[in-house]
Amino acid sequence: MIIVIANQKGGVGKTTTAINLAAGIAALKKRVLLIDLDPQSNSSMSFMEPGTANGGAYELFADPDRSPEELIYETNTPNLSLMPARISLAKLEAKLIGDFDAPFKLRDRIEDLRGKFDVIIIDTPPTLGILTVNAMVAANHVIIPIQSSYFALEGTDDLLETIEKIRSRPNPDLNLLGVVVTLFDRRTTISHDVESHIRTVFGKKAFKTVISRSVRLEESPAHKKSIFDHAPRSTGAAEYQSLSKEVLKRA
Ligand SMILES: Nc1ncnc2c1ncn2[C@@H]1O[C@H](COP(=O)(O)OP(=O)(O)OP(=O)(O)O)[C@@H](O)[C@H]1O
Ligand SMILES: [Mg+2]
Repeated sequence: MIIVIANQKGGVGKTTTAINLAAGIAALKKRVLLIDLDPQSNSSMSFMEPGTANGGAYELFADPDRSPEELIYETNTPNLSLMPARISLAKLEAKLIGDFDAPFKLRDRIEDLRGKFDVIIIDTPPTLGILTVNAMVAANHVIIPIQSSYFALEGTDDLLETIEKIRSRPNPDLNLLGVVVTLFDRRTTISHDVESHIRTVFGKKAFKTVISRSVRLEESPAHKKSIFDHAPRSTGAAEYQSLSKEVLKRA
């Protein structure tokens, strides 16, 4: 199963969700691979020192001589492996232009990895460019994190249209697994209003679990840990554990 975490809006909790969902599902005894396709490398930095990898997602696209297996690293979290990103990924767009199979690169290259992992989770950059499209062509499920704030749904039409386009041609198997409300602040009316609006728009596609805004979740990347290692008894850990279970049940 391959799950892409996507929303072209920046700062909505894609990376936080990718990291903690990957760790949460790994804790449920599934073999998980987290692929970081964002040149900002935030997912990678949560599990690895920057600059220590000898290749990763960039080489997967740019260097056909490197085997995908050697671009994967074990993390300190049992059952969780990582294919890291680096800033050069930002150059790929220009490099792949004119390549007729540009949107299919990731799918073709990770074909052999599918059998080695129960779940592959892909974190994407805040654009609907070639990297996000590659992830959607390779995946069978999409999860959309939506921040519970003003303009929360701004841009979701474009995102849903992109998913539809990919479903109509290159990848009919692509399924919207669900949308998850993130950065929820239970003390504010706006958070509650946005949550109920999202539930009206997306119906059953909205996950029951809501991810609250919390200092623990915000600080855990700085400690190079998932929320389960950084603050196992926090609300954030409970919420991401509950989301992990919901995801496995739906997928
Ligand atoms: N539930 C939360 N509580 C508190 N802070 C959070 C929470 N989720 C995310 N953040 C913080 O908000 C910021 C944006 O989150 P994150 O990096 O996960 O979003 P993103 O969608 O991946 O952003 P980008 O579009 O830049 O890749 C980060 O500083 C992160 O630590
Ligand atoms: Mg991110």
